[in-house]
Amino acid sequence: MSADEVAAEIDVDTTPLFSYDRNVFGQFVEHFHREIYGGIYDPGSPLADERGFRTDVLNALRALQVPVVRWPGGSFASGYHWKNAVGPDRTAVFDRAWRVRESNRFGTDEFLAWTAELGAQAYICTNAGTGTLDEMSDWVEYCNAPTGTEWADRRATNGRQRPYGVRYWSVGNENYEEWELGAEDPEAWARRVTEAAKIMRRVDPTIRLLAASNGDPQWTLPMLRSAGKYLDYISVHRYWDALADHNQPAGYLGSMAHTIEPERTIVQLIALLEVSATPHISIAFDEWNLRGWHHPEGNGPDAIGARDLNDDNSTYTMADAIFAASFLNACIRHGDRVRMANFAPGVNARGPLYVHETGVVKRSTYHVFEMYTSLLETHTLPALARTRGLDAEGTEVPLIDVAATGDPESGTVSIALLNKSPESASLVRLRVNGALATDSATVTVLGAASPDAFNDVAHPDDVRPHTDTIKIIDGRLTLAPHSVIVVRLDAEPRDRKGLSWTIGTSGTRGPGNTRTG
Ligand code: AHR
Repeated sequence: MSADEVAAEIDVDTTPLFSYDRNVFGQFVEHFHREIYGGIYDPGSPLADERGFRTDVLNALRALQVPVVRWPGGSFASGYHWKNAVGPDRTAVFDRAWRVRESNRFGTDEFLAWTAELGAQAYICTNAGTGTLDEMSDWVEYCNAPTGTEWADRRATNGRQRPYGVRYWSVGNENYEEWELGAEDPEAWARRVTEAAKIMRRVDPTIRLLAASNGDPQWTLPMLRSAGKYLDYISVHRYWDALADHNQPAGYLGSMAHTIEPERTIVQLIALLEVSATPHISIAFDEWNLRGWHHPEGNGPDAIGARDLNDDNSTYTMADAIFAASFLNACIRHGDRVRMANFAPGVNARGPLYVHETGVVKRSTYHVFEMYTSLLETHTLPALARTRGLDAEGTEVPLIDVAATGDPESGTVSIALLNKSPESASLVRLRVNGALATDSATVTVLGAASPDAFNDVAHPDDVRPHTDTIKIIDGRLTLAPHSVIVVRLDAEPRDRKGLSWTIGTSGTRGPGNTRTG
């Protein structure tokens, strides 16, 4: 394709469809390998504060404006007894999910102090594997009840008088999976979620409740029919490049082939919620990542040591950045139904931040979150890309991907664009409200010299964003190869022909708004 050929026609309309939930930019931390101990919490480190929180990690995460953090797992949660990890006497236990010693030094009060420092909301995942209903409701009581009851008083004795007011709670984690401690069949799971939801809501009726679901109708429909009236979200997990047993990460084009899968999953999940007559329930991808975590089965020390492979920074390239951005674009486009997502994990392993003894490395995905939380606006706008396709190892995917956002107050339009081509810049033509854009714009580009570029301790900035101010003429914009771009149009709302900042009620859309052609 010559540089003059248009790779995609992009249309954006400035009438907002809905405000999407910023919780789609959430993170997740689990007691797995070096996420908590040696990650966010490291009392022996000179970089830690008096509570053991790594301040460099906190500062880096603060820049991501993390809205919500899920904890303590993950599969860890399905064997976790939270009462071992509050108060002065901490009992070290054997963590049966990951087969390591858990000191319990970092528990509920530490997590809630840490999220408060971060400025994020806390989301607690309960133990529906080996735990009891009483443990679940006692946990809600410990966190949210005013003093005067057993567990609220215990909280006060442990130093926190006021309730924490934890808003988000889930019943279980992946209890559909044979691997999980306390896995259930669909009917037993439906009963368990119903009873857990009832008892937790009796302690605090204001909590927002999630329950583990795999998206498979066989497994999920009984739960939705039984417990649907108590639930606010289904908790769905997706890792598209499965690496648990063999750590052989997909290369750039293999990763691009996965970029069409999140939107397909969203469409299927919406259909599932519609047919179960639970359209009030939102979707939470409360664990997601392109790459599944490496944790080979087996009992030997080698299996546990192999988890270090997750920390290899060379794995996290522009492929991860573009995949993450394509996932977030799909969430924004479907922001009326997808109302939470938690990148898994937030620190170390496959996370956006790699923590080492003397500092942190911001991986490619870190910059995607930073760009999206700081540059995108509050409302989803209709957007359509009529784009060429890209052959991604035999799978045709849209070359260009778009999600458009706007702010009804200021009139600012901010558009996230992806160019998945490994080697070529792509010319796109942008229309706003039907007219070719002729705006001055601020353009932030996350790119790198190669699609396989990555950041590491010795070269922390090979992948990083750059910002320029440009003038768009006749709607023409050139997108750098393998890049994530946010274009903010600077025109005042009154300058926009046809601008209407009334929230549209006619936001009917097809399964996706990106088409190849
Ligand atoms: O591989 C990490 C694990 O992924 C999480 O603990 C679990 O919830 C999911 O299967």
